Amino acid sequence: MTAHPAPATDVAAQFTAHPDAHPTAGAQADPNPTASPDPAALIALGHPMMDHDHAEALALLAAAEATPPGALAPAFAALADHLRAHFAREEALMAETGFFAQHCHSAEHARLLAVFASLQATLTPHHESPARTYLRSAFPSWFDTHLVTMDRVTAGYLMSNLML
Ligand SMILES: [Fe+2]
Ligand SMILES: [Fe+2]
Repeated sequence: MTAHPAPATDVAAQFTAHPDAHPTAGAQADPNPTASPDPAALIALGHPMMDHDHAEALALLAAAEATPPGALAPAFAALADHLRAHFAREEALMAETGFFAQHCHSAEHARLLAVFASLQATLTPHHESPARTYLRSAFPSWFDTHLVTMDRVTAGYLMSNLML
């Protein structure tokens, strides 16, 4: 299959988050405010493999955040291991389909994994603060933005190419 590169302006537009596309936007507009939003539904992109990976990432994040003081390292490592495999699966599908913005998407994965590696290198039972702060603030923000921009565009492209 031949990839048809999109004009740079189109790529930039598709990789820009729109407030209405945020996973929490649906919950805010829920006509039944007493019902708890289903986390899986909030992050669903419609691509089964990607949706499974995103739900697993959030479960591992919650497990890491729930660890008692001094016990973060194994849970942090499990999340980092998952992200390496998760990103590799997305990158394999992008390569297989000739996804037009693979370089941009893969570079963002690499940047995130470098942050995880840097935090993991100094994480000990007595030095957890930087990793815990990152998991509590910067990582959820990165995850939400990545999901509704790069992953959403990628999932749409993969499904249009029947790569489920
Ligand atoms: Fe993803
Ligand atoms: Fe991704």
